[in-house]
Amino acid sequence: MKGRESGMPAREMWEQFFNPEQALKIMGLDGRVADVAEFGCGYGTFTIPAAKIARGAVYAVDIEEEMVAATENEAKKQGLCNVQTMRRDFMADGSGLKEEIVDYVMLFNILHVERPEILLREAYRILRRGGTLGIIHWNYDPATPRGPSMDIRPRPAQCVAWAREAGFINPKEHDLKPYHYGIVMVKGKE
Ligand SMILES: C[S@@+](CC[C@H](N)C(=O)[O-])C[C@H]1O[C@@H](n2cnc3c(N)ncnc32)[C@H](O)[C@@H]1O
Repeated sequence: MKGRESGMPAREMWEQFFNPEQALKIMGLDGRVADVAEFGCGYGTFTIPAAKIARGAVYAVDIEEEMVAATENEAKKQGLCNVQTMRRDFMADGSGLKEEIVDYVMLFNILHVERPEILLREAYRILRRGGTLGIIHWNYDPATPRGPSMDIRPRPAQCVAWAREAGFINPKEHDLKPYHYGIVMVKGKE
C-alpha cells in the first residue's frame, strides 16, 4: 500500500525545494560508495545525481508507475547505465534486493509512512556491514512550503530512535537548508 501523504506535486515544484548534489555530498554519498538503494525514488530527484557519483548500481524502488518511468527516462536521457528501477510496494513486499548488497540506502522524504520500522529493517537487511543509512526529511516546522502533516511528520530525534531500534548506530545530524534535515547512520555489528 502506498504510504500516507507520499504523493508528489508537479516535478518543477518538487525540485525547487532541494539542491540534491549538495545534499548528497553533505550526506556522505561520495565516490567511495559503490551500490545504492532508494526506497521511494519519486521523480529521481536524488537517484540521478546519486547514480553519477556512485561507482556501482543505484536501485530505485517506487510503487507508482509514473515515478518509475520518470526516473528511468531521466537515466536514459542522461546516459546513465547504472540505474535499475523497480516498480514495487516496499511496505508489503520489501525491496526485492538480496541481503548485504548495497553500501548506501537513501530514505528521503519517506519516513512519515505508517510503519517506518519496515523500511528501516529492510534498509538494515540489504546494507553491507558498515554501510550507510541516509535519512532526509522536512524540517519539523509548519512553515515549510510542503511536507506531511505535522501530526505524522517525524522529528530528527524520532528518526534516530527508530533507526537505532533497527540496529543503526553513530547518528550524525545535518541542516539541509532551507527546508530539510539529514541524518546519517551506520549499520552496526549484530
Ligand atoms: C514524497 S516522495 C519522495 C521521493 C524521493 N525520495 C525524493 O525525496 O525526491 C515518496 C515516494 O514514495 C513512493 N511510495 C510511497 N509508498 C510506497 C510503497 N509502499 N512502495 C513503494 N514506493 C512508495 C511514492 O510513490 C513517492 O514517489
